[in-house]
Amino acid sequence: MAEKLVRMSTVPHPELERWRSEFPILENRTYLNSCSLGALSHRSMGYLDEYQELWGTMGASAWYELWIGRLRELRGRVAELWNASPSEIALTPSVSAALSSVGSAIDYTRRNRVVVAELDFPTQIYQWMVKPGVEVVRVPSDDGIGIPPERWAEYIDERTAVVATSHVFYSTGYIQELPTIAAAAHAAGALFVVDGYQAAGQMPVDPRALGADVYVSGPLKWLLGGPGMAFLWVKEERIRELEPTIASWFGARDQFQFNAEEFHFRDDAARFELGTPAIPTMYTALGGIEIILEAGPRAIRDRVAALTEDLVTRLEGAGVSLRIASEAERRSGIVMLKIENAAEVVARLAERKIIVDHRGPHVRVSPHFYNTLEENDLFMAALSGAGARAGDRGV
Ligand SMILES: Cc1ncc(COP(=O)(O)O)c(C=O)c1O
Repeated sequence: MAEKLVRMSTVPHPELERWRSEFPILENRTYLNSCSLGALSHRSMGYLDEYQELWGTMGASAWYELWIGRLRELRGRVAELWNASPSEIALTPSVSAALSSVGSAIDYTRRNRVVVAELDFPTQIYQWMVKPGVEVVRVPSDDGIGIPPERWAEYIDERTAVVATSHVFYSTGYIQELPTIAAAAHAAGALFVVDGYQAAGQMPVDPRALGADVYVSGPLKWLLGGPGMAFLWVKEERIRELEPTIASWFGARDQFQFNAEEFHFRDDAARFELGTPAIPTMYTALGGIEIILEAGPRAIRDRVAALTEDLVTRLEGAGVSLRIASEAERRSGIVMLKIENAAEVVARLAERKIIVDHRGPHVRVSPHFYNTLEENDLFMAALSGAGARAGDRGV
């Protein structure tokens, strides 16, 4: 593997590199796997200390006096990140749970179709596959990378109850042009549901401006908050139209009345919440989202895009075949390398303290704002000695 092209010499927002000391893993690893799990920060660890301290000293009163307030704070932070109102935010156990709750609120008797992308993350498609009477329609991708936004209209009609797809495809990093898809969904009278797990945290997100009715993401990846929770936004105007057929006391209007005779949904998005939330994740998520807000999603996007372009240029120069969008503005911080023995290569890189991931015959590399060009160098150097076999053409 011989590298021919000259790499870029700077990335924008060098001031963001001061955040590196927040993330212990960056001291001893080249961590390029934020699309699987974002790095843990000292801020989140500090919050975890608060969790243990309060539990250890206050017991259940930590709930009533402090944790309920912290949950409110987290909803507020998510709202701030998404230019939304806190009343539009619900905290759910996972993206799957959020989609299950929203999906349970839809009447499929008159319209029984749900239109998805064949490139969507499986959990998103499974939601609808298991619903009795629902027909899942998959919008195909010609190149296995993206879908032209105009194509969606061909698959959406008066039988469509929901159009549900990803903001960014997890296996190619392709950023979908959501407003065009939203327009097609709304013209047919369908609800537009977006899975933004691979978008929020690596770029600015405004679900309302994107045309979504429902937008879901979570702290695990780009939002640096770890596993155990998801964030659900439901457009104010849609909340009361959507009455789930699964429920929990956290979604009840008078939660602390403990009235088992009557149930009324809350009027805000918290109606979709499903039981006691994961408080440790609430804390780590607060740390992560604060950092993303302070670093700034616009600056993060610019930096991630530059790091991505540097990787792309260098990999292509080295003859590595990639599975990413051909237009740079459709690319995000997920670079897929076609490598037949991807699992083996990922393991060899890990031995050299370079952490990336694999999906089938692809090595998946995902730089976040805290990564640097020097780390791209380290990755490139290690890749050349990792015994990679070309998936398509020369490596
Ligand atoms: C796009 C996308 N959606 C959903 C998920 C998983 O959602 P959950 O495990 O919270 O249901 C992932 C990855 O873990 C993902 O990449």
